[in-house]
Amino acid sequence: MNIVLENLTKEFPARGKRNSGSVKAVDHVSCQIPDGELMGLLGPSGCGKSTTLNLLCGLEKPTEGKIFFGDEDVTALAPEFRGVGMVFQNYALYPHLSVRQNIRFPLENRKGKDKLSKEEMNRRVEDAARLVQIEELMDRKPGELSGGQQQRVAIARALVKFPKVLLLDEPLSNLDARLRLKTREEIRKIQKQTGITTVFVTHDQDEAMSICDRIAVMKDGLLMQQGRPQEVYDHPANLFVARFLGTPPINLFAGEVRGQTLYLGGKPVLPAPGVPDQPVWTGIRPEGFILKADGPLECQMERVEVTGRDVSIISSHSACTEGTLRSIISSEEGAAAPTARTVRFALKPGKVFLFSKDTEEVIPLSGEGKEL
Ligand SMILES: Nc1ncnc2c1ncn2[C@@H]1O[C@H](COP(=O)(O)OP(=O)(O)OP(=O)(O)O)[C@@H](O)[C@H]1O
Ligand SMILES: [Mg+2]
Repeated sequence: MNIVLENLTKEFPARGKRNSGSVKAVDHVSCQIPDGELMGLLGPSGCGKSTTLNLLCGLEKPTEGKIFFGDEDVTALAPEFRGVGMVFQNYALYPHLSVRQNIRFPLENRKGKDKLSKEEMNRRVEDAARLVQIEELMDRKPGELSGGQQQRVAIARALVKFPKVLLLDEPLSNLDARLRLKTREEIRKIQKQTGITTVFVTHDQDEAMSICDRIAVMKDGLLMQQGRPQEVYDHPANLFVARFLGTPPINLFAGEVRGQTLYLGGKPVLPAPGVPDQPVWTGIRPEGFILKADGPLECQMERVEVTGRDVSIISSHSACTEGTLRSIISSEEGAAAPTARTVRFALKPGKVFLFSKDTEEVIPLSGEGKEL
């Protein structure tokens, strides 16, 4: 099911005297989720992710804009007719029902042609439970399950309806790191097996980058950028997206372009072809540094961190906004990690981004730059 959001807006009215303005939780968002794809919706707390899902499943009505499922305009359609399976941020399981009853719940009380036989219901419940591997927990109550098991029950309950669209609101938030990794892979597998168009909300960019076909990054209700994860990482549209994606995060410098050259701390470090003279924010990905004895960027050495596969060099530079910067180099290269007080780097052009100090939008470079 191809999903289209058109200018989708949700404004919550101001409430009470102290609450001055209304909140635009979702602000003119337009995007498309192609049939069968997994889209990651990400952004900081309060940016409008859950509200977007609530609009998609019909629990909230938009103030403005439209939602299409395939060719059908579903904007005014009641939730039960949308064919959406939703896993809420707090899973919302019924505490007094067993796991089996919880999963079966959405199938009961169906009327007319949608009514299912008891056998069909049981079969679907068993199938969904098998898919998320909770068959042995069917007779327990939610209170007798771990957080991760509860989350899987919630996923099974969403799948049992054979939804055309699956909405997952931070479905992994309560899992420990290892189970989280395993479960996100399971979700991806299930999603691929079933081919259900899925929106997966998370504020963990790593999670989104690793399992999603595409991602959409939100801030203050606005859609900042969408695209394939790698594409967004490699070509951030603005400073916010550049800083939001990537672990360790991008290193930020206050720089200046003069005569089509980027200067950091008053020293030329990289050609900036086609960029007019101006002060710029400069983002350098940790993997964008090359150890080079006569490299143009001179930093003060702080320490070296060896983490198996690669080596991080932590150093400082007067133009770096965080004080210290982190560069990651391969362990072969790192074997020659400097022991001197200073370290010099050349920069990889594709890993350096310039942003306007006024608008924080990316400033395109004309043509591939070269190292200095
Ligand atoms: N029912 C409501 N009434 C008024 N304001 C609301 C309501 N629901 C959400 N908001 C506001 O809308 C904004 C977006 O909220 P939303 O729950 O969509 O954020 P989120 O991205 O899901 O955040 P989180 O990561 O914390 O779950 C917030 O400022 C929130 O306070
Ligand atoms: Mg939320």
